[in-house]
Amino acid sequence: MKKLIIAIDGPAGAGKSTVARLVAERLGYTYIDTGAMYRAVTWDTVRRGIAVDDAEKVAAVARAINLQLTTVTGKTLVKVDDTDITDAIRTPEINRLVAEVSQNGGVREAMVHLQRQLAGLGGVVMDGRDIGTHVLPNADIKIFLTASIAERAHRRWLELTDKGFNVDLAELQEEIACRDKADCERAIAPLIQAADAVLVDTTYLTVAQAVETILQLCEEKSGVL
Ligand code: CDP
Repeated sequence: MKKLIIAIDGPAGAGKSTVARLVAERLGYTYIDTGAMYRAVTWDTVRRGIAVDDAEKVAAVARAINLQLTTVTGKTLVKVDDTDITDAIRTPEINRLVAEVSQNGGVREAMVHLQRQLAGLGGVVMDGRDIGTHVLPNADIKIFLTASIAERAHRRWLELTDKGFNVDLAELQEEIACRDKADCERAIAPLIQAADAVLVDTTYLTVAQAVETILQLCEEKSGVL
């Protein structure tokens, strides 16, 4: 049976990574978290003491990065030069800096090149901001996953509080609004729903319901289940 390419795009906190990983698990596909790639470049930039607005140097970091992504049950492990940075890329500091790094044209070029290689011949679920519009415009299934900003901020608050960070819900909502704006208004590959993407609003959906909705679409489209 043909192995599909499934693209899931949407704003921060819509549940993309959780939902995309579970869809991939159910189909026996590979899950590729492109946000983790931009986060890893951001982490490597900070580690090297380079300012995120130093475009040339940040692009050089992206071109040289030795990045490994592996999905084990329940989570994606991210390594740079064999250092496990799975948790280090999800701190409030990286959340704040990543939108600027991902606006860098050189960074995007390097990451998109890697992402197209990773998608290979199919059997992948890839999530991000520009997958259906730019990275994999010929994807078989395109989903635009979203939720209200209040719900997305609340989910991020739960995630960070759970990890022991002391964060303020109102500040988090403000930060997500800022990142949405930066992602939607940037010049290169902005966050936008592809014309042929299906909108899935998860504000009132559980994770399981969102996963079922997407699997149903895959089944309707190509009898994959
Ligand atoms: O988990 P969350 O939704 O907060 O974000 P993420 O998917 O980990 O992505 C982090 C940031 O990377 C986004 O805010 C974008 O600025 C950038 N990104 C991007 O520009 N293009 C992608 N394909 C994926 C992420």
